[in-house]
Amino acid sequence: MSDSHILVEHPEAHPGVMVIRFNRPEKKNAITSAMYNRMTAALEEANRDDAIRAVAFLGTEGCFSAGNDMGDFLAYAMSGSKEAPAAAVFIKALALAEKPLVSGVDGLAIGIGTTLNMHCDLTVASARSLFKTPFVDLALVPEAASSLLAPKVIGHQRAFAMLVAGEGFSAVAALDAGLIWRIVEPDVVEAETLALALNLAKKPPQALKIARDLVRGPRDAVLARMDEELVHFSAQLKSAEARTAFEAFMRR
Ligand code: COA
Repeated sequence: MSDSHILVEHPEAHPGVMVIRFNRPEKKNAITSAMYNRMTAALEEANRDDAIRAVAFLGTEGCFSAGNDMGDFLAYAMSGSKEAPAAAVFIKALALAEKPLVSGVDGLAIGIGTTLNMHCDLTVASARSLFKTPFVDLALVPEAASSLLAPKVIGHQRAFAMLVAGEGFSAVAALDAGLIWRIVEPDVVEAETLALALNLAKKPPQALKIARDLVRGPRDAVLARMDEELVHFSAQLKSAEARTAFEAFMRR
């Protein structure tokens, strides 16, 4: 992969804000293992560095992320690897992030492109955004503790529709469900996201951390659900039905 597929930026006009940007538009910002590793390192750096007060996830014009790279899924499935996939390490880093996370979605948010936002404290999206998790269609199961977080936030029926039936949610439906904070015009998604992050970055850091931790609640259940999901996800990833689904995508 090129190092430029994930850009880690520290915009001068937004002191205290770290931006993690998907930058692989030619592949709809599909995420490879190397990209997960880069994002994990960035989140760990944000935890360590007192100068970083908020982290903002952004994509490219018209696309947040099409989720996990299908080629990577296939390679992992064929490899017989027993190591945890890079995605699993990244989602734990998301759950363990100590600074506020905000995200700006414009367009496609598929798979982890959707579930990542469930770990963000504030998400803005353009009206043309689509949130969709076709896990079961790919013979996979929900990840990133979405099977725990989504029912809590949006209720069983909508969580089932999203995570099991693979129904897409428009930005309006996502707002109505409480999955996102605000809908804005596509050309201001980035500015609005950075403004939210900057606003948080300016707050007294200790009070901000305590307040955020109180609102989010204990992380143990989230981490435990990630482990539980991973057992099934890894097994399914290597299943014949999943391989058939990935190969069908690769052959299109
Ligand atoms: N992994 C790897 N490559 C991907 C990808 C993914 N998840 N999503 C898109 N791409 C690639 C396509 O293969 C294509 O590459 P190519 O130009 O070399 O053929 C390129 O990105 C553009 O995608 P394309 O499918 O032509 O664009 P589209 O606008 O018609 O459709 C999607 C976009 C996102 C709806 C479609 O690509 C898709 O369904 N992707 C898979 C999403 C998914 O299931 N992710 C995993 C969830 S768990």
